[in-house]
Amino acid sequence: MNDDIKKYVERVKRATEYLKNKIKEIPEICIVLGSGLQVIADSAENVQKISYKDIPEFPISTAPGHKGELIFGKLNGKNVALMNGRFHYYEGYHMRDVTFGIRVMQELGVKYIFLTNAAGGLNPDYEVGRPMIIKDHINMMGDNPLIGPNIDEWGPRFPDMSNAYDKDLRELAKNVAAELGIPVYEGVYIAVAGPNFETPSELRMLRWMGADAVGMSTVPEVIAAAHRGTKVLAISAITDRAVPDDLQPLTGEEVLEVANRTGQLISKILSEIVKRL
Ligand code: HPA
Repeated sequence: MNDDIKKYVERVKRATEYLKNKIKEIPEICIVLGSGLQVIADSAENVQKISYKDIPEFPISTAPGHKGELIFGKLNGKNVALMNGRFHYYEGYHMRDVTFGIRVMQELGVKYIFLTNAAGGLNPDYEVGRPMIIKDHINMMGDNPLIGPNIDEWGPRFPDMSNAYDKDLRELAKNVAAELGIPVYEGVYIAVAGPNFETPSELRMLRWMGADAVGMSTVPEVIAAAHRGTKVLAISAITDRAVPDDLQPLTGEEVLEVANRTGQLISKILSEIVKRL
């Protein structure tokens, strides 16, 4: 291992030790709250909030709609850690810092990682304001958190991705959504670096590649989760139509507004899943 990687592992362990000494109970599930998806935090009880800036070695998030704190507490009787604010590649972080929080959660011992995000609907049949359960991804970010010497202690050099979005968790999510009467899609998420929204020609290409939704996050975290064998469930809020022949000008504020609305539905689905795990 080179020095960079050794230092990275030490940083993750330092942050983890700090948290282990602070929190009352080790979480079983980590939920990453995407842009505008903070409402999930409202249903947590007995919460203990720890600001990223107080955790040694933890990066600080700068994206709009992202807070920068870990919330430990109970959700439907289960110990959870909510990551309120994630690290995006477009903010200028190294991929290893984008996935720093995931590495800390794995080191803490979480069994499941749930990820949420806001995404543009490439599939012309998709309606804005609906959740999409991610069944698979395409990494078009042009980078990968596992580049560099492999951390053998965490996982293999060439991780398997055949079930990165755990099939059983997806089935459970679909069943729960149906029971709650919430219409959901199940589709392929394609990740781009951003930060600009896509041109019509780029959207045409992304759709042609086989994706149903496009966004600027989640994929690095899922790769890090798969590396260490952590089970993943990921749900996108479809916040806008990313359909080239029907494209309206789009702002980050509009995305946040729809994400807030869709977040209520995603929050209901995730709380019910947590209960049944
Ligand atoms: N493109 C990329 N990222 C996004 C979009 C989009 O249309 N909507 C929300 N995040």
